[in-house]
Formats: sequence, C-alpha cells, structure tokens
Amino acid sequence: MRVLVIGSGAREHALVLALARDPGVSEVLCAPGNAGIATAATVHQVDVSSADAVVALAKEHQVDLVVIGPEVPLVLGVADALRAAGIACFGPSAAAARIEGSKAFAKDVMAAAGVRTAHSEVVDNPAALDAALDRFGPTWVVKDDGLAAGKGVVVTQDRQQARRHAAELLDKGHPVLLESFLDGPEVSLFSLVDGTTVVPLLPAQDHKRVGDNDTGPNTGGMGAYTPLPWLSADLVDEIVETVVRPVAVEMDKRGCPFSGLLYAGLAIGTDGPAVVEFNCRFGDPETQAVLALLDSPLGELLNATATGALASAEPPRWRPESAVTVVLAAENYPGTPRVGDVITGADGEGVLHAGTARRDDGAIVSAGGRVLSIVGTGPDLAAARAQAYERLAGIKLPGSHYRTDIALAAERGRISV
Ligand code: GLY
Repeated sequence: MRVLVIGSGAREHALVLALARDPGVSEVLCAPGNAGIATAATVHQVDVSSADAVVALAKEHQVDLVVIGPEVPLVLGVADALRAAGIACFGPSAAAARIEGSKAFAKDVMAAAGVRTAHSEVVDNPAALDAALDRFGPTWVVKDDGLAAGKGVVVTQDRQQARRHAAELLDKGHPVLLESFLDGPEVSLFSLVDGTTVVPLLPAQDHKRVGDNDTGPNTGGMGAYTPLPWLSADLVDEIVETVVRPVAVEMDKRGCPFSGLLYAGLAIGTDGPAVVEFNCRFGDPETQAVLALLDSPLGELLNATATGALASAEPPRWRPESAVTVVLAAENYPGTPRVGDVITGADGEGVLHAGTARRDDGAIVSAGGRVLSIVGTGPDLAAARAQAYERLAGIKLPGSHYRTDIALAAERGRISV
C-alpha cells in the first residue's frame, strides 16, 4: 500500500514514521512535509488546501490511501475530492469536518445527542460584547469562532483581559464565542470512527499553556503524555458510550457520517466528563505520544477506517508503557515566532520535526512556532519523561523554550499542576 500523508507538523512526522513501520505499507509520501519528514518519506511541495492539487499528486503517484493530518484541508473538502476521484482517504468529508470547523454545528449535534458541554454564546457585534461578558465568568473563556490552531483561546479570571481579547477578534472581523468555564482536568480521547463504529485509542493529556505550572497564554500544545494513570478504563468506556458514540450516531442520522479521527477534548468535572471541543483530526502534540505506544500496523487501521471496514478490523494493541512528548518552541511563540535559526542535534531517535526547513547549505533551520516534538518512552511516566528530556538536552536552538513539567504532576500521582 502506498500512503500519502498531508501536513507538515510533528503530528505528521509521527504518522509518517508509524506508517513506515507497518509491513503492509510499501511507500510513504508526504506533502508538504518538513526537513525531518523528508528523511523518512518522499516530500512534495503542493498546496494542500487545494483539492485539485492533492488529487493530482495522489493520482500521479498511484497512491492507495491519503491520510489528512490538519483540519484546514478537511474543512475545505479535500477528502471529498479524493473520494470522488476513487482514492481512499482517512479524514472526514467537509460536511462532517464541521464538528471542528463550525462551533454552532458542534453545539447543535451535542445538544441533539444529549452530550454535556459548556453553555456558549456567539458575539459578532462589539456593541453586544459587554452585556454578553456579564452573562459569563469568572472564569471567562473567549474563543475565536473559527479555526485558530488553539491560539485563539483565552481563559482568564480577568474581565479586562477577556474583553481585550474579544474586542481584538471582533476588530479583525472574527465572531467571538463565549463559553462557560468547565472545571476539571482535561483529557484528549481520540477515536477511529467509521459511521457508527467507534474504536478509541489511548487517552492522553495535552499541556496547553506556554509556561510551567500552566502559566502564560494558550498555545497549540506544549507537550503531552499517555496513558493517564488517574483515568480508569471504566471512565474511558463511559466517555465512548456517553460522548463519542452518541455524536457519531447523530452525525450519521443527519446524513454526514464521520469517517476518520474524532478527537474529543473533555474536562473531567465532579459531575463527570463534559466536552470542551471536538476536532476532526489527530491532535498535536498528543499523537506523538499515542503513536509511540502503538503496537499494531497503523496503515491497516487507517485504511480499514477509510474503506468502511473498521468494524471487522483487529482492535489496536498498545505497548504496556508510557510516552511523553515535549515541544521545543521558537523564541516568542505563541506570538510571532523568530525563524531562520540553525538547529543542531535534531536528527536523533524520538525527535519529530514540525516547523523546520533545510537551508541550501544543508543546515536545518527553524521555520515555525512549534519547532520540534521530542518523545520519550519507558516502563512508567518517570522513565518516559527522563528519556524525553535527555533527548531534548542534546538539541540546540537559539532563543528556544520548552516546559520542564510535562507529565510531572501525573508522575507524582496528581492529576494536574
Ligand atoms: N492538542 C490540541 C489540538 O490538537 O488541537
């Protein structure tokens, strides 16, 4: 099977490496990829938001399966175009990708499916902002009502900060979503979904704030770990039965069945799990940790999902270990990152590339905010953390920063920092 992966992050690097380990996969291609992915797959520079360009590339290379990493091509209908061209695709249709792309659609599906989630309101007129803010908080949760790669979210006790963020979004012409705050530790549960068939992967936890002890602004994710010693298998089953399956069934009923990876971001409160958000693709950086423990052929699982055969596929097997991933970010991330700095030591085991490029002289340089994801595994979280940070210590990138406390609370028997 020849597989084309779409995307350029560390998530896609993890997907490429896991697919390359599958004996049923003869070749892995990636578009557009990055400097690290280029050492593991043939990379092709095409505009991955263009359905025509992706279909043409898949046809030219006689690809059997396309795996779409990021949300933007999915929301734009690239999976629909591939299927229409007779090419199997892991990733939902544009209609089903609305579960991430349209907050209003997601809330409507959850209401119909009886799934617990935050109360929310969309504000698109600055004159209505103050009255709306009065109906929420403290704590205020202010989101960009479009796709914002996690960076459009401000969670704050400070009404002035909430107002400033909302006003900035409105100034840019982006509607603002205000949400009630969901208390409790967060869990990312990924499930392979093929219509009404749901197969959960290992639960993971992301660390979204930029600084140690959950300080500073939200980011796309600064690190993650799996499995979660504080989350029982029973609670994972409960999340599947009360959250993921009802949403999959509701989408099927609406004529937009989900096919691909359904990511439930949840807060585990005193009243049980509630949905913070759904995403229509693998999470980043959680995927880097989750796939490090996968002991089954990934290509087979993704192809079964893409071709409507998930119900009869062998369930995924996992190595009984722990995995931790730590993100190395460029100076000033999550603001506008400094790019073009030379990176050394980024070719070792467990080092996944995100914002990297190869200069004409052969040097690897930073080319984005989240530059690398460094993965460690081991018999427990302490060993996995130790390996991830040891690997990180061998990498040099001027001005870079990372969190030192990824998975630390869980290693110490606590749920969150
Ligand atoms: N880890 C957050 C996300 O992938 O959206």
